[in-house]
Amino acid sequence: MFRVNENYGKLQGSYLFSTIARKVAAFTEANPDKKIIRLGIGDVTQPLTDPVIRALHSAVDEMGNAETFHGYAPDLGYAFLRETIAENDFRSRGCNISADEIFVSDGAKCDSGNIQELFAEDSRIAVCDPVYPVYVDSNVMAGRAGNYNPETGRYDRVIYMPCTAENGFAAELPDEVPDIIYLCFPNNPTGCAISLEQLQRFVDYALKNGSVIIYDAAYEAYISEEGIPHSIYEAEGATKCAIEIRSFSKNAGFTGLRLGYTVVPKELKCGDVSLNSMWARRHGTKYNGAPYIVQKAGEACYSPEGKQSIRELVGYYMKNASAILEGLRDMGYTAYGGVNSPYVWLKTPGGMSSWDFFDYLLENANVVGTPGSGFGAAGEGYFRLTAFGTHENSLAALERIRKL
Ligand code: MLT
Repeated sequence: MFRVNENYGKLQGSYLFSTIARKVAAFTEANPDKKIIRLGIGDVTQPLTDPVIRALHSAVDEMGNAETFHGYAPDLGYAFLRETIAENDFRSRGCNISADEIFVSDGAKCDSGNIQELFAEDSRIAVCDPVYPVYVDSNVMAGRAGNYNPETGRYDRVIYMPCTAENGFAAELPDEVPDIIYLCFPNNPTGCAISLEQLQRFVDYALKNGSVIIYDAAYEAYISEEGIPHSIYEAEGATKCAIEIRSFSKNAGFTGLRLGYTVVPKELKCGDVSLNSMWARRHGTKYNGAPYIVQKAGEACYSPEGKQSIRELVGYYMKNASAILEGLRDMGYTAYGGVNSPYVWLKTPGGMSSWDFFDYLLENANVVGTPGSGFGAAGEGYFRLTAFGTHENSLAALERIRKL
């Protein structure tokens, strides 16, 4: 009889956003007349921009012509996109990253779930708490997380770095030395960012202790303040200890199109083993590359017009973020984030649990958010609202919350 990967049995419930979708579907079925406003999952609502649409149309036409047709994409990504990324996202910021250190993929979620394959089975991981669930769950599946303790809400082999109001939601250095440190800044779910100095402390720690940092920078386009790093490679020495993951979903609205990339610097080595070569080998074996038409759409994001359209798109969502943040504070809520990120992280009123507040909001305001405890034990008592709704819905949701 075949056996299954028993680590899957250690996962807690279903994926957070699937649980929410099921709860909302049940509520809608029971209350078909209620108009729900969804500010739960960080999915965009605004259409793709004109430069992107034009690039898609033109690439589709190329695919319909024998002379310009493209079959399998190069598995690491087309050179036109990798060069453009290296120049615009890194070298223009003084980060020494070259095209052959960029690996194009169909999105940051897959890369952040798959990257753990490069590391030894018994590696110890450190994560922020609260945390984007993919980092933990993918390591649970791989058998690295140990057992789940229902009393603490934590896995016994995972090292947690609490992000709390007291520490400004900036993770503190771990108590025990991990092999792999996952960081996401601007942070999902708290919406808070860290300074270059704070990030440098992590890089120095990783270099000193022989740890590797997996840095998820999916929300970097939302940084509005000075002194906040857009890439971990702004920190000195990071090319020797860090992998960075980026997404086109949140800045250019590609959640339905799928495009992302991972940077694995050639200097990043374990002894004389190059992680860049390992990731290239993995891509070659398991992946056939993001579609040509989508990579052309990605390239269009970097033209002057493309950059301007992204600034406008991000500006649209940030207007929501600031309305939500200020609106909640005005109502007396304690709320964070929303300045360098499209997420607002609020304290639930009256000490309500995160899931109780989720139900309360769904039933009484017909507004969907994300319970903080779904992101980890330290998220209990918090709740996340996203700024990715339409402007009208963001304001309407606030009005409904005000009336509670
Ligand atoms: C979220 O809501 O946390 C994100 O949309 C999840 C994701 O990007 O996969």
